[in-house]
Amino acid sequence: MFSPADEIKNRLDIVEVIGQYVKLTKAGVNYKALCPFHKEKTPSFMVSPSRQIWHCFGCSAGGDIFTFMMKIENIDFPSALKMLAQKAGVPLVYENPALRSQKSKLIEICEAAAKFYQENLKKNKEVIDYLYERGLKDETINEFQLGWASDDWRQLLSYLANKSYQIEDIERTGLIIRKEEPVEISNQRPIRSGTLNEYYDRFRARIMFPIKDVSGSVIGFTGRIFQGKTPLKTIKDINTVGKYVNTPQTLIFDKGKILYGLDKTKNELRQAGLTIIVEGQMDFLAAYQNGLKNIVASSGTALTPYQLAILKRYNQKLVLGYDMDEAGQTAAERGIQLALNNGFDIRILKLPYGKDMADFALKEPNKLTELVNQAQPIMDFYFERSQQLINPNTLEGKKIITNYLLPKIKNLINTIDRSFWLEKLAQFIKVDPKVLEDELMKIKTDTERIILSEDGEEMPAATYQFNTAAILNRRDILSERLFSLISQKPEFVSLILLYQEYFPEPYYTLGKKLAEDPFFLSDKKKVTNSDLAEELIQKIDYLNLKGAYEIELLNNLEIDIEEEIKNSLKELKLESLKDKLNQINQEIKECESVNDQDKLSRLLNDFNQLSQGLKDN
Ligand code: CTP
Ligand code: MN
Repeated sequence: MFSPADEIKNRLDIVEVIGQYVKLTKAGVNYKALCPFHKEKTPSFMVSPSRQIWHCFGCSAGGDIFTFMMKIENIDFPSALKMLAQKAGVPLVYENPALRSQKSKLIEICEAAAKFYQENLKKNKEVIDYLYERGLKDETINEFQLGWASDDWRQLLSYLANKSYQIEDIERTGLIIRKEEPVEISNQRPIRSGTLNEYYDRFRARIMFPIKDVSGSVIGFTGRIFQGKTPLKTIKDINTVGKYVNTPQTLIFDKGKILYGLDKTKNELRQAGLTIIVEGQMDFLAAYQNGLKNIVASSGTALTPYQLAILKRYNQKLVLGYDMDEAGQTAAERGIQLALNNGFDIRILKLPYGKDMADFALKEPNKLTELVNQAQPIMDFYFERSQQLINPNTLEGKKIITNYLLPKIKNLINTIDRSFWLEKLAQFIKVDPKVLEDELMKIKTDTERIILSEDGEEMPAATYQFNTAAILNRRDILSERLFSLISQKPEFVSLILLYQEYFPEPYYTLGKKLAEDPFFLSDKKKVTNSDLAEELIQKIDYLNLKGAYEIELLNNLEIDIEEEIKNSLKELKLESLKDKLNQINQEIKECESVNDQDKLSRLLNDFNQLSQGLKDN
């Protein structure tokens, strides 16, 4: 979930916030000022609007808007959060400890229920066989903890009650339902809480899919009906009981805010740079099992703003594996438009008509990747669709097509995309593009930018700070400097790569990235989508800001940057050799004390060679 802190950062501009306290002047893509936290005559306080961080290269204070507020107002983190939340118009709801412990109690019960259903499945061969028939393997069934709720009114209830969970708590998970209350004669609430007999299990005769939050805790369930050999169509009350039943909204579960499988696939989403999204659990599992791991399921809902906001954190490319018949398209439309309006790239999976991902995977398990690669860009999909439905050569047809396509074009956030599709539309219905442009101006888009309310689930820990100066040794300092310069001057990357072996971590790793792509460091998108740890990603933000600062200094002093890089590299090599020498020295001492003559002579040899190398430099 988005934390309020993230939401605040999204909404506020760091330049505006800091600009209210210090006079910022533009320096390239960044801003600089005299540092408000120490006395100085030349500015070394820098702010990066694209990375939303600040840093003073004089006193090495730095961080994000929160750390700035804490320092300048001399307040603690919660107060800074409160001040900025007000500015940003983000509501903050502090979660009280009682509520928190209530939530963890409900999770505990859901997890116990998941285990129970899982065990229960093992005893029901007929159900397992059905899952096999649907193509699922044991591995998948176990990994996703599929279970079975027997056709019994109180099986789970008795189990949980025996484990001495409070009946009220069990009720709050949505796993059991209270029978209609008897009409009370007085207005007073019944004093005694319900007995077991007044409740029954919500899920009966169902295959159970535990639904987990992003950290993997079970917070709810989806249950698919299964009545043995009875085919779905002939189950007499299928319309009243429903093929699927979900946990209702509870303190911990909200169907529209959850993406099934995300706890398992979030890293894949980041790495693949693309998210496949399907409707159902069966679709998800079939695809996942066959190697499509960058996938989530939306549990039958059609892309809510919440789900989009979550997905946006991992990548901005969606491949929709929904049934896109007329009904499916109408249901998905708002979500799609909202996604387009927020800069997502959307493609549609072309599934054979009437089939879903699960059906397809069962028949053609090896063709899934191909299917994804052939997904159709959403605008192509819309064009093709209108072509199939309406004759673009009649006046009526032209109007209908324009009404259908123009709002979608308007909704694209990229101007180039817009003019491209407008041109296409003009050709398609044979109308002067100018006319369409006029029409486009008249249209109002009905999708607004995602505004996320947040119930304050995750209070952020104190934000990062770059206060590392104290513990850096000479090699680290040189490496940091070199990489910050290179972040701004990728044309010199090849120089760095010649000295790759002398860089300590994390620079060694970054060097490898640069070997693949010299522009990697300064490309915020690539960095964010990379497999690097969050800490390292923040470090790269810092390197970029530092680089901008250093380059300006060098320019002012009229120092040649290439020369500077070469000199620093030589120094780095020397430092590295010295470090090695020290290490050998240490080992020699140890050898002497245990009298290991062989090793000693080898070490002495190394020592002499290194010393020679140092002299030659
Ligand atoms: N769904 C739901 N509530 C319903 C109907 C559907 O939550 N009343 C969700 C379920 O997550 C389901 C998905 O929507 O997996 C897709 O529904 P549907 O296409 O009807 O089911 P399938 O996934 O195709 O199920 P199966 O193949 O097992 O019939
Ligand atoms: Mn299906």
